[in-house]
Amino acid sequence: MSIIAFALLSIHFGIPVAYYAMLRRFVKRRVAPHEVISYPKIAIVIPTYNEAGLIEWKLDDVYKQDYPRDKMEVIIVDSASIDGTIDRAFEWHYRHPDLRLRIIQEPIRRGKAHALNAALKMLENDVDIIVITDVDSKWLDSNTLKKAVAYLLNPSIGAVSCVKSPIGESKGVEGVYRDFYNVLRIAESNAYSTPIFHGEFAAFKRELLEAIGGFPTDIGADDSHAATKVALMGYRAIVTDDIVCEELLPIKSYIQWRVRRAQHLIQHFIKSLRLLRKAPREFKPILLIEAYLHVFNPWILLGGLASYLASIALNPCLIMTIPLIIGLAFLSYPPFRTWVVMQFILMIASLRNLRTRELSWRKEAKALLSIFL
Ligand code: GDD
Ligand code: MN
Repeated sequence: MSIIAFALLSIHFGIPVAYYAMLRRFVKRRVAPHEVISYPKIAIVIPTYNEAGLIEWKLDDVYKQDYPRDKMEVIIVDSASIDGTIDRAFEWHYRHPDLRLRIIQEPIRRGKAHALNAALKMLENDVDIIVITDVDSKWLDSNTLKKAVAYLLNPSIGAVSCVKSPIGESKGVEGVYRDFYNVLRIAESNAYSTPIFHGEFAAFKRELLEAIGGFPTDIGADDSHAATKVALMGYRAIVTDDIVCEELLPIKSYIQWRVRRAQHLIQHFIKSLRLLRKAPREFKPILLIEAYLHVFNPWILLGGLASYLASIALNPCLIMTIPLIIGLAFLSYPPFRTWVVMQFILMIASLRNLRTRELSWRKEAKALLSIFL
């Protein structure tokens, strides 16, 4: 194999392996929650765009939370849905009058982050914690809010998110990807903070969300970017394994969905890199390596493969093809395959970002029906 190909492939695989090995010691070092003596007031914000099929399912999910009713309020921010989402929400509220629910209707759709910021402007004065949750997600435990509050009462913690567990047709592939990424998120959180948050459950101290100016509207991954800015302010932004969310997967267009989300993460990391010098000492390597892994590392793989194939073409011999055969055989090993697929998704996402940022994305049908029918 040519020296260049060997060097590039070693960098591509070596950096994440070294990072993983370095973080492993943090996996078990959990952040301790505080004891909760009095419950702070929470606003749960649900952004919706054409969610008539799922909005009642999501409201039922929030309704199951064991949290003092007078200390919680749900705010739906809808961006001009045309499928009757709002009517369903009103009907649901009529049947559950004991949960405080406000519905904000935006006259035009300007994207999820705009909608979230509209909700921030409508908060009552006594709200201390804001929880963002996507309609296509379910919180596994009725104590989710209580658990998040227990972490947020720690003065050093500014934001809390969940680990994810996928449901739906592509569960196998997504499951392998999630196992690996959940471990990374937890280890980063235990080390200091993670720069990747999840829209299925993202809780913030209100004062910090206001201090960073709300959610960014020029990029996707609004949740991850807000959490990163909280971490840049010196407060920890953590994912913890006792808060678990299930996420419905799209029935079709799984790859397109992954590409869009990768586009959003890449936008977030490019924007965050400019803020790197402000990062607290413990956060700097995490942010730098995650940005590198999402933005640059996939291209190193492509460069390595291209120079390897070029060297075979220039100098065809049997021995040179052995790494190729080993590499192809390894593709049957799911974590390796998942990794390689992710690299191509990230490259496609970078290229698509040159054309569109996908800030108001197409709504995909989710797998709820296929599980319960
Ligand atoms: N109000 C409003 N306006 N809500 C919107 C809009 C909009 O323009 N676009 C989407 N939403 C709502 C959806 O109805 C849903 O409740 C939520 O935002 C997330 O939309 P999905 O279509 O499910 O997005 P996703 O699963 O691909 O991405 C989500 O997860 C990512 C990773 O956790 C989003 O929350 C991303 O922001 C997040 O980074
Ligand atoms: Mn979703």
